[in-house]
Amino acid sequence: MHVAIIMDGNGRWAARRGLPRTAGHVQGAKAVRRIVEAAALADIATLTLYAFSCDNWGRPPGEVAALLRLLRRSLLTETGHCAESLVRVNVIGRRDRLSPDLLRAIEHCERMTAEGSRLNLRIAIDYSARHSILQAARSGLAGAGGEERQFLQRMDEVNHSALATEGVDLLIRTGGEKRLSDFLLWECAYAELYFTDCLWPDFDADGLHQALSDYARRQRRFGRVPETADAAL
Ligand code: IPE
Ligand code: IPE
Ligand code: MG
Repeated sequence: MHVAIIMDGNGRWAARRGLPRTAGHVQGAKAVRRIVEAAALADIATLTLYAFSCDNWGRPPGEVAALLRLLRRSLLTETGHCAESLVRVNVIGRRDRLSPDLLRAIEHCERMTAEGSRLNLRIAIDYSARHSILQAARSGLAGAGGEERQFLQRMDEVNHSALATEGVDLLIRTGGEKRLSDFLLWECAYAELYFTDCLWPDFDADGLHQALSDYARRQRRFGRVPETADAAL
């Protein structure tokens, strides 16, 4: 099962407490650790987390710097823990605009956790779904023979990950907004969508389990009719 999460609401979490937005991001990083552990226990195969979007560069420079610093620090401090708990980390998104420091932390984390077999953790940094799709299309493979498989392979390469072709089963967005904000537009073709008002720093294992049990009650049809409908014909 592939679960993707738009981790939204850090700024509002902080504002409600009279704290600077960056305090919300620090708290949000703690929620990431909780949810990664809960996901591994819940037998989720792939978890994709939206950490920083291409459009997030448009935030005040101080917030952007704090976010990227926090990402780098979290990657460095969590690498050992992820390797021990067999969590394989891959970062998806653009790499041409990240600082050498952050790039080194990403590459180190990916290398050290490459053997992980329990959970594929994909972290989207400087990510835009439209950009990924455009890059894949531009690479020319989409036109060469028009093979969907080749196109998907190209999507993998563009996303620096061998996993991007797996469709998302469940997309969760915290923070109350009901939009995709340029996240995994391709992979979410048939994703079940789950929105919660819970702000990301407050999201915990219980929240994840609620989303999973809601998902378990959904009937996925993929454009077809349910098998039981045959009997009714
Ligand atoms: C999500 O929280 C974190 C990132 C986008 C990096 P926000 O910072 O968007 O928090 P709100 O939506 O302003 O509350
Ligand atoms: C989406 O949240 C990006 C991440 C969670 C990293 P935003 O807060 O940036 O999205 P909008 O602005 O509400 O659409
Ligand atoms: Mg937001």
